[in-house]
Amino acid sequence: MHNHHLQPPPTTTSTGGATGSNNSSICRITFSTPFILLITTIFSLLLILSLSFSPSSTSLPPHPNPSLFPNFHNYLNSPSNPNDQNTLPSTPPTPPSIAYLISGSTKDSSRILRLLFAVYHPRNQYLLHLDRKATQKERDDLALAVQSVPVFKAAQNVNVIGKADFRYSIGSSALSATLHGASILLRLSNSWDWFINLSAADYPLVTQDDLLHILSYLPKDLNFVNHSSYIGWRESKKLKPIVVDPGLYLAEESEVYYATQKRELPDAYRLFTGSSSAILSRKFTEFCILGSDNFPRTLLMYLSNSPSSESVYFPTVLCNSRKFNGTTINHNMQYASFNSRSQVRRLNSSDFNDLVMSGAAFASPFKAGDPVLDKIDHELLHHNRDEPVPGGWCLGDTETNKCTVWGDAEIIRPGFGAKRLEKHFLELFSNGSYLSDQCQYEKTSSSR
Ligand SMILES: *[C@@H]1O[C@H](CO)[C@@H](O)[C@H](O)[C@H]1NC(C)=O
Ligand SMILES: *[C@@H]1O[C@H](CO)[C@@H](O)[C@H](O)[C@H]1NC(C)=O
Ligand SMILES: *[C@@H]1O[C@H](CO)[C@@H](O)[C@H](O)[C@H]1NC(C)=O
Ligand SMILES: *[C@@H]1O[C@H](CO)[C@@H](O)[C@H](O)[C@H]1NC(C)=O
Ligand SMILES: *[C@@H]1O[C@H](CO)[C@@H](O)[C@H](O)[C@H]1NC(C)=O
Repeated sequence: MHNHHLQPPPTTTSTGGATGSNNSSICRITFSTPFILLITTIFSLLLILSLSFSPSSTSLPPHPNPSLFPNFHNYLNSPSNPNDQNTLPSTPPTPPSIAYLISGSTKDSSRILRLLFAVYHPRNQYLLHLDRKATQKERDDLALAVQSVPVFKAAQNVNVIGKADFRYSIGSSALSATLHGASILLRLSNSWDWFINLSAADYPLVTQDDLLHILSYLPKDLNFVNHSSYIGWRESKKLKPIVVDPGLYLAEESEVYYATQKRELPDAYRLFTGSSSAILSRKFTEFCILGSDNFPRTLLMYLSNSPSSESVYFPTVLCNSRKFNGTTINHNMQYASFNSRSQVRRLNSSDFNDLVMSGAAFASPFKAGDPVLDKIDHELLHHNRDEPVPGGWCLGDTETNKCTVWGDAEIIRPGFGAKRLEKHFLELFSNGSYLSDQCQYEKTSSSR
């Protein structure tokens, strides 16, 4: 399925309304040629797709490729068993599936594709979002690039958002875009277990086989989110101002502005702050988007004028909910490094050993094309940047055609990365300190 919104590329912003009819017809001509080309390419892609994958009937829902999903029908017909976390499996459990939202802005297409290859696995779902600062052409090109990779087409698990959102770094439009992505992913597939939100500046440190292998041993209701209730002056400075995010109401790019007044922190619930990236369970994602408890929406409205809504929303919903506060692990599995002013700093080759030793699953942020990414590709993921990371589903027998011959995507082949993750999780869970770290409320912080 290709969630693509066909629209002519936006014409240049109206320059004072002085464009005569001659100008607009010129406009139409110059824009319509590539547009027609695009329609025909997409149409022929659809045609090829329908010819090669559903020759018998067009009314059946599309099937992913049977080499990758030999048990697809059993899987669809088996009773869903979300509540059986208490039964310990004797054989390795069926690997879980992850829904990734990968977001970027203008000129990020090649980074997004590179990241997509690095985190690709046929069992997962991927939704790519190029925000409104990118042109419609960039979005269309990204969709075409995705369409041209055979395994993405065969597994039918990569989609591109056609109708994009703005994402301002301060303000709440980024949170709105993340929730938009999560709700599309909930609709695209009812079989994923965790939601991971990545930006074009993130990169994995383990293969998907490693990550899926380790996650298959964990309860599917765990949420990995950095959080703290400590609100000192620094945090207060981020939480009390009132901002107006133009991404919520203006069609063109503009500046976020601050109101002169500030507001007090809420006392109807406790605010928690954390990092904006997280690994969220499906149940929790549904709670935020489809739940009948109104707190996720109340908080969303409170945060709509807050400058750091994205780092507050998920930790605060989790920790204020009796249903989820016991499922929260205070670690997002993402490596970050801070400078002396406790700002996140960009990672480079000098950090490589620390990245490996950290046992984290992801790291951020990297500069586009930084040499350390090549090192990660080569030494940790064992792939070329424009090919998927080899996993148990790759049956090719030579180095070059490994992932062009497909096998059952349920077969997972974990490597050294799984060992690093395992060690990390064991440290995290071994002495029970994770329990004392769960949604702890620091009383001293309430004085502010
Ligand atoms: C989603 O991820 C992006 C990139 O890491 C980040 O900027 C954004 O704040 C995240 N959104 C939320 C709601 O966590
Ligand atoms: C979860 O919330 C309930 C009710 O607010 C509270 O009694 C409990 O201690 C909380 N658990 C954790 C781990 O914070
Ligand atoms: C998240 O928490 C972990 C563990 O406490 C820490 O190592 C990491 O640096 C934190 N990440 C961010 C972005 O704060
Ligand atoms: C990596 O960044 C640090 C500072 O952030 C710098 O000191 C170091 O020289 C950089 N290393 C490389 C290989 O660029
Ligand atoms: C538990 O493990 C953590 C992380 O390995 C460590 O920092 C902490 O000191 C340990 N606590 C105890 C009581 O051993």
